[in-house]
Amino acid sequence: MTVATINAGRLQRRLEDFARIGATAAGGVNRQALSREDRAARRLLAELALARGFHVFQDAMANLFIRREGREDDAPPLLIGSHLDSQPTGGRYDGALGTLSAFEILEALEDAGMQTERSVEVVAWTNEEGSRFAPGVMGSMAFAGAADPAAWRSLADSKGASFADELAETLAALPEATARALGTPVSGYIELHIEQGPSLEKEKLAIGVVTGVQGTRWLQVTITGEAGHAGTTALSYRRDPMVAAVGVLHALQASVMPSDIDARLTVGRIATVPGSVNAIPRAVTFSLDIRHPSAARLQEIDAQVRAICGEQCAAQGCSVEIATAFDMPPGVFSPAMVEVVQEAALRLSLSSKRMVSGAFHDALFVSRVAPTAMIFVPCRDGISHNETEYVEPASVENGARLLLEATIAAANGPPPV
Ligand code: GLV
Ligand code: MN
Ligand code: MN
Repeated sequence: MTVATINAGRLQRRLEDFARIGATAAGGVNRQALSREDRAARRLLAELALARGFHVFQDAMANLFIRREGREDDAPPLLIGSHLDSQPTGGRYDGALGTLSAFEILEALEDAGMQTERSVEVVAWTNEEGSRFAPGVMGSMAFAGAADPAAWRSLADSKGASFADELAETLAALPEATARALGTPVSGYIELHIEQGPSLEKEKLAIGVVTGVQGTRWLQVTITGEAGHAGTTALSYRRDPMVAAVGVLHALQASVMPSDIDARLTVGRIATVPGSVNAIPRAVTFSLDIRHPSAARLQEIDAQVRAICGEQCAAQGCSVEIATAFDMPPGVFSPAMVEVVQEAALRLSLSSKRMVSGAFHDALFVSRVAPTAMIFVPCRDGISHNETEYVEPASVENGARLLLEATIAAANGPPPV
């Protein structure tokens, strides 16, 4: 048996091959969950796996698993991976880096003929991003039993495509995959991902050893006024929901983030009904993405949003409805699994710091059912959810080497708890 090593050239080529699936003119990818492009990426990964003699499985959420048998083939496997779906104007590395690096680990173990105690499985989770069908991290949430997937069956995307139909088509597109039960137990989970923020690059550190994930809440705010003629309706007769929405957004932007350096507030989507140039809208709807490492602060910001909406809408004679589209409390990873990653980084002499993830990840829900940790590598200027997202080849290699080292440690010996 030789020592397993990463084939960095092969991994770079794979990243390039997958970046062609859903490639955008600006150099990024549009490979949204359960789309034709997502199916093509899943097919390519499954074909690569079958060509190497690995077994391929999928569960009812189309989470895709690739298994390399260990010595104890009936023990729960160690899971490594990430997601293959992207934002509509996404980068080439968000998700793909962790999934393809995990597959590189299986190949490196296979190349070296290295047997592990427990089986090692690569996973590509379904719909991490949540931009086509909300919420995000659907596949891992359902895997962890934190949501009933039946609740999502009636969802449709912005063009009217049904979630249930797209899921069924995605499952049917991979007949080679053996069906397996949702939530089939695993002994642990390690996910490699880009930081998606600037701190590692700024601090010239190779690795972020992730100890947990901050909380996220998605609200959908609908402000309703009265539709009217743009030209004939004088100010005193207007109940304009756009004026109320502008007031709400201004008040929120002025109050939430400036007073709390850990708070994040983003309005990524806004729409009017009927959406006509020369009609006062009847309703304005916008999304709010709120993040905070503290569950209590997240709750306070939620209350602040409701108070501000109430005041601003009353001032315009409008009504408001606020729906919670997604509520993900902060999560803390297993100290033992975090230590596996930290010690592996020390053995490889990779500079690192411990950090909490600002982005949510599938690891957040998996950590509820198995000891979990994450590895971050820097990305250029901290830019992500953007077609210009870029990771230096040296960082790709650092991340993959560390994932291999941590995988070998976690798949052998007693499972971390
Ligand atoms: C994940 O994509 C996030 O929005 O944090
Ligand atoms: Mn991601
Ligand atoms: Mn993302």
